[in-house]
Amino acid sequence: MKTYATIAAFREALDTERHAGRAVGLVPTMGYLHDGHRSLMDAAVVANGVAALTIFVNPLQFAPTEDLSTYPRDLQRDLAMARSAGIGHVFTPDVAEMYPEAIATTVSVAGVSSALEGASRPTHFDGVATVVAKLFAIAGPCRAYFGEKDFQQLAVVRKMTSDLSLPVAVVGCPTVRESDGLAMSSRNVYLNDAERAAAPVLHRALRAGREAIEQGVRDAAAVRAVMAEVIAAEPLARLDYAEVVDAATFVVPAPLAGTLRLLVAVRFAKARLIDNIGVLA
Ligand code: PAJ
Repeated sequence: MKTYATIAAFREALDTERHAGRAVGLVPTMGYLHDGHRSLMDAAVVANGVAALTIFVNPLQFAPTEDLSTYPRDLQRDLAMARSAGIGHVFTPDVAEMYPEAIATTVSVAGVSSALEGASRPTHFDGVATVVAKLFAIAGPCRAYFGEKDFQQLAVVRKMTSDLSLPVAVVGCPTVRESDGLAMSSRNVYLNDAERAAAPVLHRALRAGREAIEQGVRDAAAVRAVMAEVIAAEPLARLDYAEVVDAATFVVPAPLAGTLRLLVAVRFAKARLIDNIGVLA
């Protein structure tokens, strides 16, 4: 496994792989890797001739009030996990390499970016779309692996890639959970013991919402209320949003029908956690 700090060196390494006939699998991350990231690396390794990992805590996608300065980092542990997963190339640029001067170009994906995470974090998806466009431009033709854990992000990346005809096949991978249902996240380290014990409330709320739909509820407000009630019963958790949308458009169908996605965002003292699940109505 080789690591690269510069755009030029990483780009050349992946060009060389393609010239040798190997398809490239790309896994973009912000590091502090866990088994959710590991599942993306495993998928990239099995389906491609060579797999590449990127580790970059992207300042563009953090608002000034958010956790950029405290975002957890452990490069040595990340590299050990990447090596054991069979990753061939790791790109670890610093901020000056990715943004040598103030960036004037922003990739903004209308529609799927506006609700939910986009409403709670107004500049977030522009930052994500811009850095992912850069990473795709640097990596070149590849399959790129993203988690359903960040379901709206996956939709933003898919739409951007299709709109801009980027030479990348975006692959979505299922959410990896702890045994108590909590979705794995680098931000789970912000939880204290009591909050960690309370955090599976997100998944419980989602399952309650799904059950309501499976039992025939077709009114979005009623499903939202079911999820909100589960969150409200947990004193350490404060609901940001609980929503049910069409999984492709992020519009709320009335009545609820088709391939739906239930999504929640919940605040604890220092952590803001998101989760989602699918259901067919
Ligand atoms: P990060 O939060 O590090 O996540 C990197 C990738 O891992 C994303 O595609 C995310 O959806 C996936 N992932 C995280 N937790 C997961 C879980 N429990 N199960 C499955 N997949 C999971 O998402 C980002 O970084 C950034 O926004 C990035 C796309 C790298 C752009 O900066």
